[in-house]
Amino acid sequence: MSLIVLASASGSPGVTTTALGLALGWPRPALLVEADPTGGSAIAAGYLRGSIVPAEAMIELALAQHADGILEVLPRVSQELPGSVARWVPGTRSHEQARSLVPIWEPLTTAFRSLDATGQDVIVDAGRLGLFGSPDPLLLGADLALLVTRTDMVSLSGARSWAETLRERFARAGASSALGVVLVGEGRPFRAREVASVLQLPVVTSIAWDPSSAAVLSTGADPPRPGLAQRMAGRGGWEDMALLRSLRGARSAITGRIRIIDEQLQAAGRGPL
Ligand SMILES: Nc1ncnc2c1ncn2[C@@H]1O[C@H](COP(=O)(O)OP(=O)(O)OP(=O)(O)O)[C@@H](O)[C@H]1O
Ligand SMILES: [Mg+2]
Repeated sequence: MSLIVLASASGSPGVTTTALGLALGWPRPALLVEADPTGGSAIAAGYLRGSIVPAEAMIELALAQHADGILEVLPRVSQELPGSVARWVPGTRSHEQARSLVPIWEPLTTAFRSLDATGQDVIVDAGRLGLFGSPDPLLLGADLALLVTRTDMVSLSGARSWAETLRERFARAGASSALGVVLVGEGRPFRAREVASVLQLPVVTSIAWDPSSAAVLSTGADPPRPGLAQRMAGRGGWEDMALLRSLRGARSAITGRIRIIDEQLQAAGRGPL
């Protein structure tokens, strides 16, 4: 089992869209957790167009208090994520509710890290960093913590100071290798190599710039209609869209990266974190 946490520094670079996109086709059983303290379930309101009433999952998890209790209620409070084999823990109803969740992040991290028995990987949408109620323990306890950013100057200037803070925090925890970056729209205008050098963090993967496909995941828009050239080439399906192709690449880059980190830790005699 792996715990993968995505977060942003500023703006709305595409954390929710990317986390959801990864979970929808994850190669193993996955649990997608909306832990953005902003409140509200972006997935229920967006991708699912309000067609499903999200469970009050976070409150139930908070009431469970301890890791053992959380593991007991998790199967009941998580729900099927339509269009996938993944399960989903909807976000809190409001930001006010998120405040009361601060004590839950620590035991939740312990619980997620012990999900080995079920073979489930956990993908967390941690929202924007630095908000009150942010799930910091989940971020620091992740097998891979990913700072999601676009590649324009404004996004990078917002990401730079958070990259520095995170580098320090992860170094203190002896977990520097568990930190990386996901680019949304590589080359718009800066390339991965340039971003890595500005943020002094490795770019683990890039998600293609594809607004109309992203809108399917972020707002429940209808899938884009393929152009004539795509149809003629037999590449007109949803799975052929640039976003979907890049998500497939991202899944293998992320799982590959976690495998390398585990091997390094085992070689250093520490086992997985
Ligand atoms: N790969 C992409 N290509 C183009 N547009 C994208 C991409 N990913 C996300 N978007 C768009 O960016 C906007 C923000 O996406 P999303 O809600 O996923 O961001 P977020 O980082 O979760 O934001 P917030 O911090 O507000 O929760 C949406 O309009 C979405 O469709
Ligand atoms: Mg979001």
